[in-house]
Amino acid sequence: MHDEVKWITRATFLIALGAAPLQGAVTSQDWGKLPDGRTAHLYTVSSPTVTIKLSDYGARLVSVSVPDRNNQKADISLGYPDLASYGPGKDPYFGPIVGRFGNRLNSGTFPLEGKTFHVSTNEGPNTLHGGKEGFDRKMWLGKVLRDGVLFTLVSPDGDQGFPGKLTVQVAYTLTGNSLKIHYSAVTSKPTVVNLTNHGYWNLSGAGNGTVLGEQMQIFAHHYTPVDKQLIPTGEIAPVEGTPFDFTKPKAIGQDIHAGNEQLVLAGEGYDHNWVLDGKAGVMHPALLLYDPASGRTLKFETTEPGLQWYSGNGLQKTKLPNGQNYPKYGAVVLETQHFPDSPNQPKWPTTELKPEQTLNSTTVLTFGVKK
Ligand code: BGC
Repeated sequence: MHDEVKWITRATFLIALGAAPLQGAVTSQDWGKLPDGRTAHLYTVSSPTVTIKLSDYGARLVSVSVPDRNNQKADISLGYPDLASYGPGKDPYFGPIVGRFGNRLNSGTFPLEGKTFHVSTNEGPNTLHGGKEGFDRKMWLGKVLRDGVLFTLVSPDGDQGFPGKLTVQVAYTLTGNSLKIHYSAVTSKPTVVNLTNHGYWNLSGAGNGTVLGEQMQIFAHHYTPVDKQLIPTGEIAPVEGTPFDFTKPKAIGQDIHAGNEQLVLAGEGYDHNWVLDGKAGVMHPALLLYDPASGRTLKFETTEPGLQWYSGNGLQKTKLPNGQNYPKYGAVVLETQHFPDSPNQPKWPTTELKPEQTLNSTTVLTFGVKK
């Protein structure tokens, strides 16, 4: 508490002086109320180059402002300036932590310790991003840190049907050009967990055209094909010789209209999990994104085994803050996580968490420019 007051005061003082915020300056303000009366807060975390806004509603990234090669700043993460624009049916998971289980669980069902669990379904017969009231719809408890914000959520035993009381902490901290997202969780009973941040990125600026010209490199030689409900089939397929090969930098749009069956299933685009080459549990590179137009770059490093990557194939159904619609492919969602539907794929890296264990996971996003 002491720390919080000290840092808010210091940042306010600097702003009053008209000074550039110090690295790690953090402020907090009220962000209004949800229709059910819950109050949300908006946090601003600044370094000399990067300004990030976060909210306790969904422990979400609201905006990320970074310079281009001419030092012009733009918000490169899709979001809304007002709380009222967020909510079920309004935003397609803009920036939150998704959980308890990121991506899909086939038929909302999984086996665990000899029992079959049925969890909340919210996409036909399946569960997407933790069910009807996933972690993106929860009000987390925010605590201002010296260089970021720590969000805590206690998800009760049986929440959306998942077993065990799960206590989750997600810390967003900003150092220079790097945003670290650290996840930890403990449970009272054996359960399954798959946490990630669901930020939408467009390095040309949110709402500024499509990402088809942006170049992606993914540090993965395999991916997990899906069925028509976008549930992994269980196969681990090589990317070589397919549109899924991003082992060398390639424009996102290069092969997107190639008519590949997997791309067609996902709505003429990518919505798949890549099996990262690096060792899970230790930091390894996941991807590099580069926008030739603005010069902006974005690098993801992670301890997670997978990268679910979605090319905004359905984004044309979503409104921009100005009331117009986003274009299809108006952003990419980059989700470092365990593989979708892992509890139903016993050979894949496990997503089980036991009471004697602590889940620890880190992803670092580094923003840059190429001249
Ligand atoms: C999923 C997409 C889904 C989107 C919802 C992504 O993480 O992979 O299939 O449409 O979230 O916004």
